Amino acid sequence: MTATPQSPSPAPRAVDAYTAAQQAQDAAAGHGARTFRLWRGADGTGEFRDYTTEAIDGMVVLDAVQQIQAEQANDLAVRWNCKAGKCGSCSAEINGKPRLMCMTRLDELPADEPVSVEPMRAFPHVRDLVTDVSWNFRVKPTITRFTPRPPDAPDGTWRIDQEDVDRVQEFRKCIECFLCQDVCHVLRDHHKHDEFIGPRFLVYAAALEMHPLDTADRTAQLKEEHGIGYCNITKCCTKVCPEHITITDNAIIPLKERVVDEFFDPLKALVRLVRGKRRG
Ligand code: SF4
Ligand code: SF4
Ligand code: FES
Repeated sequence: MTATPQSPSPAPRAVDAYTAAQQAQDAAAGHGARTFRLWRGADGTGEFRDYTTEAIDGMVVLDAVQQIQAEQANDLAVRWNCKAGKCGSCSAEINGKPRLMCMTRLDELPADEPVSVEPMRAFPHVRDLVTDVSWNFRVKPTITRFTPRPPDAPDGTWRIDQEDVDRVQEFRKCIECFLCQDVCHVLRDHHKHDEFIGPRFLVYAAALEMHPLDTADRTAQLKEEHGIGYCNITKCCTKVCPEHITITDNAIIPLKERVVDEFFDPLKALVRLVRGKRRG
């Protein structure tokens, strides 16, 4: 009997090549099993725990966290509402950077390392990924409210230039996610919550100060109570804003200029001194 020479079958190699190519493609697209390093614990204590779950096309970090919650960790605390980048509830630190979980796609993150998700650090920790952001809601009412001038027409309406309307429109996009507050070193590292309102509320103050109908002057408040001087224009807040509000250049710097004009202009300082003496 003649032995037939064994030749390697091409089929398995093609399959292997296909599998390897598919795996590489999946990894690049963020598909397949992915590991998530989630912060677990309460009241400021805790640790990272690793969970592995299957990622599919188009998934965002919030999808993966919810999948882990459904499959492996029913007691995981996570806050979210809209899943559309509009409610500002799902703020967290993803791979160390303040971001919205619902707007961070897995294929934007390195596929070959775990995705870390931890709570914001500038506010008190409640449980797992949830922080208590209520300080922000106490700060807001301390800012002098909108004070419009009397209407321009007998029918109770005003006349304003489009250019003036456009200037404040950007600030109105804020979704109060507080990611800018979280990244600001004055709050995060120096804990100046009693003396500094943070970038979110400087944006809010700017929206009021630059509003074409507003008549209130908030410069003294910004300087004395709201700590605008603590901001040293690092621009970290602008970099993390999911609404791409130019927080530093368009809100904080113009407010600082108003404070400087009002309080550090020698002529105005002299006028204030004289007025003060007259009142005294
Ligand atoms: S620019 Fe000012 S407000 Fe923004 S993060 Fe830096 S210090 Fe904070
Ligand atoms: S200014 Fe931007 S980062 Fe700050 S709270 Fe508003 S949307 Fe969030
Ligand atoms: S769930 Fe609303 S912004 Fe993410």
